[in-house]
Amino acid sequence: MSNTIFLLPGDGIGPEAMGEVRKIIAHMNDTMGTGFILDEGLVGGCAYDAHGVAISEEDMAKAMAADAVLFGAVGGPKWDSVPYEVRPEAGLLRLRKDMQLFANLRPAICYPALASASSLKPELVEGLDILIVRELTGGVYFGEPKEIIDLGNGQKRGIDTQIYDTYEIERIAGVAFELARTRQNAVCSMEKRNVMKSGVLWNQVVTEVHKRTYSDVKLEHMLADAGGMQLVRAPKQFDVIVTDNLFGDMLSDVAAMLTGSLGMLPSASLGAPDATTGKRKALYEPVHGSAPDIAGKGIANPIAMIASFAMCLRYSFNMVAEAYRLEKAIATVLDKGIRTGDIMGEGCRQVGTSEMGDAILAE
Ligand code: NAI
Ligand code: MG
Repeated sequence: MSNTIFLLPGDGIGPEAMGEVRKIIAHMNDTMGTGFILDEGLVGGCAYDAHGVAISEEDMAKAMAADAVLFGAVGGPKWDSVPYEVRPEAGLLRLRKDMQLFANLRPAICYPALASASSLKPELVEGLDILIVRELTGGVYFGEPKEIIDLGNGQKRGIDTQIYDTYEIERIAGVAFELARTRQNAVCSMEKRNVMKSGVLWNQVVTEVHKRTYSDVKLEHMLADAGGMQLVRAPKQFDVIVTDNLFGDMLSDVAAMLTGSLGMLPSASLGAPDATTGKRKALYEPVHGSAPDIAGKGIANPIAMIASFAMCLRYSFNMVAEAYRLEKAIATVLDKGIRTGDIMGEGCRQVGTSEMGDAILAE
């Protein structure tokens, strides 16, 4: 079995958080015979410093060939004025595009120990476990025409175009239904079919995919604005939410605030299954950025990065029990009151990045 993982730690706190994942992988290889083979490359500002690009062709080829890519974070003030095509984010965009990562998975899990840090009442979020599946490569962020036209009368017109084709909706719906089967078996599809043609098509195609292949899964449809309201009113009603690129961007940020700190949130981006091996290209990354304000101080919270690796175990290597064990270890450490500064609470013990990693490893 091939078990190659390509690490792209990036800039700022990216390498600090990735260091804790490296410890966990080494421990798994030593004690569980997992045989993960690691390689490492440069992305973002550090790649620009070394090669003058946001990611080199050699590292792109390695990312394309790996079973999974773990990505830290990119960017920082040092590179704020580098040319647009080679800015740090260009590395991440290139990876998403070339690997065709069309499905973005953003879990919103509320660890019981952190329920009081939520924007909502603790009882509304305690035990919360939602998975938002956002379409990542289509919709209004990419549709053409996309431009600002000068109307000549002192007026301008800004144009973006929302486009979704059947195949794009089919494949994202398929991912959502497949994932629901491994969870609470329920999908809520969100669009705005009341005012958008792409929403009408989205609704029809999701309904057809459900009828054809996934009728065992509970399917519900909700208008995206009502969905946003329900997310903050009664978030525990949801299991898997599937939605387009724009609504998914907003709804996943809303869901993030239900669970506490940016330092806690993992994500996965998946591509289509390979025709012969059935294996999906995949990239796992924390939701947070490079946090220049705390970089180099050894105080960053590594949990988002570690939880991203748990998603990697689950989705790229089908190591479901191991993923669960790692997530359980995170919950236990939090229950014990061990905290990094960003999630510090009354009566808790504050630790740095590597102590947090060690505590999780010990569990
Ligand atoms: P950020 O996520 O880096 O930081 C926002 C705030 O949250 C900061 O106060 C930071 O200290 C804190 N924070 C974030 N992650 C944390 C962690 N793991 N532990 C403790 N505290 C944490 O977002 P910001 O400040 O808007 O962007 C900083 C840089 O990161 C920019 O150059 C931006 O372009 C880049 N960025 C990169 C992303 C990526 O690589 N995917 C995503 C978002 C931003
Ligand atoms: Mg966003």
